[in-house]
Amino acid sequence: MSRYFVGITGGSGHPYALALIRALLENGQEVDTSVTEAGVKVLKHEVGIDAGPEGVNLGSALRARLGDHWGERLRAFPSKAIEAPPSSGTALTGGVIVCPCSMGTLARVSVGFSSNLVERAVDVALKERRTLVLVPREAPYSQIHLENMLRLARLGAVILPASPGFYHRPRTMEDLVDHVVGKVLDTLRVPNAVGARWKGLPPPDEDAGTGVPPPRDPLAEDRPR
Ligand SMILES: Cc1cc2nc3c(=O)[nH]c(=O)nc-3n(C[C@H](O)[C@H](O)[C@H](O)COP(=O)(O)O)c2cc1C
Repeated sequence: MSRYFVGITGGSGHPYALALIRALLENGQEVDTSVTEAGVKVLKHEVGIDAGPEGVNLGSALRARLGDHWGERLRAFPSKAIEAPPSSGTALTGGVIVCPCSMGTLARVSVGFSSNLVERAVDVALKERRTLVLVPREAPYSQIHLENMLRLARLGAVILPASPGFYHRPRTMEDLVDHVVGKVLDTLRVPNAVGARWKGLPPPDEDAGTGVPPPRDPLAEDRPR
C-alpha cells in the first residue's frame, strides 16, 4: 500500500479526479488530497461537491460522496495548509498526481512556484525525483502550454492528458473517465481493472458475444438527442 497525493485544480475534468480518488482507495491505496481555490469552484460546478472556502470541507464532502468508511486512508487538506505532510519530502508518497491540471498550475510548477499545497506537492515530487503525473485539460494548447509541458516532461513528469480513446467503444461517460483513470493507475503501477484493456481488433463476425460493444456512429440518425 502506498499513499498518493491527488491535487485538484481549476481545470475542467473533475469527474476524473473523483474517479481517480475512488479507484486508488478501492484498489487498496491511501490518498491525500487538496483542491485549489479555483478548483473549489469547478468541483462544485462539475460534480456538485462543495469543498468550502479554500477547500476546508473537502474531506467531509468527499466522504459524503465516496463513503465515510475510509478513515485515515483518505485525508484532505485545505489549499493553504502548507504545513501539511505533502509539503515535505520527508513524508513519503508513492507519487503525486494533479488531476485535472489547469494551465495556470502547469505554468507555476514548471518554474518551481509553490503558492498552495498542490503546487508545493508537485515541487516536492520534482526535487525528490518521485513519480509525478500531470493530467492537463485545455483545448487548444498555446505554445506556452506546450513549452511548459515539455519542460516538465524533461524533468521526469508524466504528461497524461485527459483525452480518452474511443477504440474500446465507450458507451457511457464513466467508460470515458475510466479510460483515463486506468492509464493513471497503470502509470503509478497500481494493479487495477479500471477501464478496458485492448485485446486487439475483434474479427467482425465475432463482435457479438465477445463482450465488446458494437461500434456506434455518433452521427447516426437514431442517436439520442
Ligand atoms: C468552469 C471552468 C472551467 C475551466 N476549465 C479550465 C480548463 O479546462 N483548463 C484550464 O487550464 N483552466 C480552466 N479554467 C480556468 C482555471 O480555473 C483558472 O485559470 C484558474 O486560475 C486556475 O487556478 P489553479 O491552477 O490554481 O487551479 C476553468 C474555469 C472554470 C470556472
